[in-house]
Amino acid sequence: MIIKSISGTIGSISSEFTAAFIFQDEKLFKRSSSLLSKIFGQSIESAFNSKDFFAKEGETLLVYSTNKKTSRLFIVGLGESKKITIEKIRRAGATAAKKAKALKVSSAAFDISEIELAKTFSEEEIALAISEASLLSLYKYDKYISKEKNGKQLIAITLCSTSTKTKEIQNGIHTGQIIAEATIHARNLTNAPGSEIYPETLAKETIQLGKSAGFSVTVFDRKKINKLKMGGVIGVSKGSEKEPRFITLEYGKQYKKNGTIVLVGKGVTFDTGGISIKPSAGMAEMKMDMGGAAAVIGTFDAVSRLKIKRHIIGLIPSVENMPSGSAVKPGDIIRHYNGKTSEVDNTDAEGRLILADALSYAETFKPEVVIDLATLTGACVVALGHYASGMMGNDQEVMNALSTSGDKTYDRVWQLPLYDEYEKLIKSDVADVKNVGGRWAGAITAGWFLKKFIGDYKWVHLDIAGTVILEENQDYTPRGGSGAGVRLLVDFLKNWK
Ligand code: BES
Ligand code: MN
Ligand code: ZN
Repeated sequence: MIIKSISGTIGSISSEFTAAFIFQDEKLFKRSSSLLSKIFGQSIESAFNSKDFFAKEGETLLVYSTNKKTSRLFIVGLGESKKITIEKIRRAGATAAKKAKALKVSSAAFDISEIELAKTFSEEEIALAISEASLLSLYKYDKYISKEKNGKQLIAITLCSTSTKTKEIQNGIHTGQIIAEATIHARNLTNAPGSEIYPETLAKETIQLGKSAGFSVTVFDRKKINKLKMGGVIGVSKGSEKEPRFITLEYGKQYKKNGTIVLVGKGVTFDTGGISIKPSAGMAEMKMDMGGAAAVIGTFDAVSRLKIKRHIIGLIPSVENMPSGSAVKPGDIIRHYNGKTSEVDNTDAEGRLILADALSYAETFKPEVVIDLATLTGACVVALGHYASGMMGNDQEVMNALSTSGDKTYDRVWQLPLYDEYEKLIKSDVADVKNVGGRWAGAITAGWFLKKFIGDYKWVHLDIAGTVILEENQDYTPRGGSGAGVRLLVDFLKNWK
């Protein structure tokens, strides 16, 4: 898919499909409707005269016109201009892109001039939002689906505007495209089956992406992981025929003096639960238990292609959690990278066991901030559903910044408390800590477990169990892997002081 821009008035650009985004306010609506009627002719004028369409938020109208350059006009309502948000613009863009796809046109023109009228967002912001959302909304994981022969596809979207700020619009398209592609990388990794993506292949994919995007990748194999005494990674991987990997990503070494940020991603390429095996219904979903790793990899893709000026390290402990004669068992005790021990009460609470090693290993980079992303608990999905990731940590300033980035990108987070009282729920009689905390506050006790392994740095834990895997389509995110975390982190990394 190509996205380009052109300056000109609506209808002057030849394409099979033209989308107009218009406001509901009386004055603006009148202005837009008479302009569109003048350019596209009688059928459009009659459609407006019918008083069936008011340009309310999300309302759409498809009209066939006599305009020789573009026969299909698709109008998307933006609601009131005063209440416009960047998310509403994204949704409107996605609505238009999905309609163009459904109509099987190969070229579409999106006129953004009317959105610019509200003067709430710059040309660059609007172009970024529309192109990002268009690309994201057209995504489908179809790698394993036999292709229809000669099926017509949407191959180009042209953003047209009467604004003179063509450079800004082009910048917006460029950034939007990179961010969408990075998110799609994360979605693809998340949606890939466990037979394709296991620790070794996840590492290979990361190396390959690093080469094309411009970040470096180091991979530790089982021997090296053993040598480093990462007991959690070793323990969880024991039941699987697939060897574990510990993947380190690095970008922007030259910016080290401004502080290092470490991103840790849970990379369980399939989670059966191990000996504490999960019920079979819905287990297939656990191919997505490396969504945290995917978010980190996607973020590195975007950050290096956008050339963000920051030193970033990525750490991905990757294992397959399987039951077998050699698997870790309930009651076993693990010694982690930093020497602390944990009692394995439930082998299905495996994510925290491998993250414990990664979080203590993170200390070796002397980071200012460490953010971990993990599909850690079903309890977090019960608490927040699919609309926000759970957030916990030890530094309110970093959490506030993530909150702001979340609201802006709509890759949202919601803070849960890490009160001291919760700590006793994971006390063990035989080890420093136990890997499960009982029935209540499962997302928080998991967070507390991680907290036991952090070093001397600002730390935030994001439980993305509900946001990385969607059961239903959202505006520009089809069901399945969402790529959650990528857009959030890119915005955070751009703006963190
Ligand atoms: N990967 C799962 C968490 C999960 C559940 C992610 C549902 C996405 C959707 C994690 O490893 C797990 O199994 N957690 C257990 C922890 C429990 C044994 C304390 C859970 O949430 O049930
Ligand atoms: Mn599990
Ligand atoms: Zn898991």
